[in-house]
Amino acid sequence: MATDNIDQKHNEDYEYDTLTNDRLIKDHDYDGIRELDNDLPPWWKWLFYITIIFSVVYMIRLFVFNDDSLVQEREYEIEMAEAKANMPEVDETTAAFELVLLEDEASLASGQETWAKICSVCHLMDGGGLVGPNMTDHYWIHGNTLEDMWRIVENGVIEKGMIPYKDQLSEQKRLEVISYIMVKIVGSTPATAKEPQGTAY
Ligand code: HEC
Repeated sequence: MATDNIDQKHNEDYEYDTLTNDRLIKDHDYDGIRELDNDLPPWWKWLFYITIIFSVVYMIRLFVFNDDSLVQEREYEIEMAEAKANMPEVDETTAAFELVLLEDEASLASGQETWAKICSVCHLMDGGGLVGPNMTDHYWIHGNTLEDMWRIVENGVIEKGMIPYKDQLSEQKRLEVISYIMVKIVGSTPATAKEPQGTAY
């Protein structure tokens, strides 16, 4: 980049800009526009050398050591295999539906949702009873076991106005709402309760 006046006098191989004395590239003249013959800046050259070194290291890793981490496809396969190995075994026997009382908060909350949306219309939100019987006392028309209630919710009591929920609610949803009745409603004290119906248990 620096102007070299000494060079100008002694070196016939170069041409120089008449105004700035900068060295010009010979025979490069495009409509009077001349290009300077500057050296490339050192930072640029070093960047270039580093890319060459990088490419050599990269090729050795890729082709000599067969480094898997450089090939996306291999990386993908390895990660998929790892994920598969870490996946818990799905036990078919526990996946099957079981008729047991659910007492965890999530199931009861989900049961409460179903109760509020569908059942409370006839049984009231607090279970005191309206069209349907009081669910808070220990009197039951159709029995007080989980199986008894399962049967009622599945088949309904059409002649009294309760439809079957077999097709409307999944097994899980039915079990959740029954669990909600047994855990949260039975034994509670509603504001207004219907008189006992059925048999005391
Ligand atoms: C359209 C009104 C209505 C709706 C909605 C309704 N029920 Fe009922 N339910 C009744 C009536 C009426 C009875 C009483 C049947 C009888 O007298 O035999 C009853 C009885 C029951 C019984 C048996 C109670 C006993 O004393 O043996 C259970 C359990 C029950 N309902 C659960 C549910 C659940 C859970 C839902 C929501 C998924 C629901 N019901 C929705 C009207 C309804």
